[in-house]
Amino acid sequence: MNSATAAALGALHHYVEYDHVSDNFRDDVLAGLRQFPKRLPSKYFYDERGSQLFDEICALPEYYPTRTEMALLRKISGDVADLIGEGATVIEFGSGSSTKIRILLDSLDAPMAYVPVDISREHLLLSTKDLADSYPDLRVVPVCADYTQPFDVPQIAGEKVRAGFFPGSTIGNFTRADAISFLRAAALDLGHNNGLLIGVDLRKDAKILHAAYNDAAGVTAAFNLNLLRRINGELGGDFDLDAFAHDARWVPEPGQIEMHLVSTHAQTVSIDGESFDFEAGESIHTEDSHKYGIAEFKALAGEAGWNSIDCWTDPDELFSIHLLRVA
Ligand code: AVJ
Repeated sequence: MNSATAAALGALHHYVEYDHVSDNFRDDVLAGLRQFPKRLPSKYFYDERGSQLFDEICALPEYYPTRTEMALLRKISGDVADLIGEGATVIEFGSGSSTKIRILLDSLDAPMAYVPVDISREHLLLSTKDLADSYPDLRVVPVCADYTQPFDVPQIAGEKVRAGFFPGSTIGNFTRADAISFLRAAALDLGHNNGLLIGVDLRKDAKILHAAYNDAAGVTAAFNLNLLRRINGELGGDFDLDAFAHDARWVPEPGQIEMHLVSTHAQTVSIDGESFDFEAGESIHTEDSHKYGIAEFKALAGEAGWNSIDCWTDPDELFSIHLLRVA
């Protein structure tokens, strides 16, 4: 833990830490690179540098999802607050920099607690400290966990209703089957009658999608390549970062952006004594970002045990926000 994190910890009033992060980075990386085609799980993008690069992506002119979702959230937050009701505990899956939650917290009627769940510990603690400073009456209970794995939602004394918050279309990073499993598990975590506010990126013109994931400034490329830098630093890998090229492609069926790192020439990479051969043009598949039509997502949530309460989109129909309730 670095000194900034330690200082943040010291300054948090309502801090409880549940440390559930199981360290599978090494096993997952080796298993993924032994497969053909080679794969690396996108959840490992988010070390400290990766989280910073992701924040930079969100501010890019081509990357429409963040600003579109924020504007939409501002517009609908009053309606959402009325539907959720007073005294809610808000549980955010993958809280990142905890910026969007402020829009919701500012509209909710006397929210009781905020439980941010994130895999990136340093980022979680620093962002949580800022948030706790801005909302002195709110109980803030950060959970450092991989929310794709089962974890305990802490019981908050006197809580009236639980509302899950899962913005950013992060649900898109799951396969459709994994999205259903995640939503089923979330329904169990949150319990009967509780809600979930979830941001879902919509299907749209391929040109808009392509630009959003192949930005001119190369920030998405740096974000993608950071995974290899992380493997070098943490697992003793010898990836040459100049010998892999970022590539993001729109795959219309079933509808996802795929991110790849493409080997520019034939090469062998070693990680902690194990060798991995790459042919020229061979890729490592690093991320899927699935896009959903409105009815398509409602049907998927329905399969996972959720009823649709309401759904909103921006005027250009780039992005959607669904409010669901456990059936
Ligand atoms: C984490 C789902 C919000 O898929 O758009 C951004 C991650 N990858 N640019 C997305 C990402 C490349 C992002 N989400």
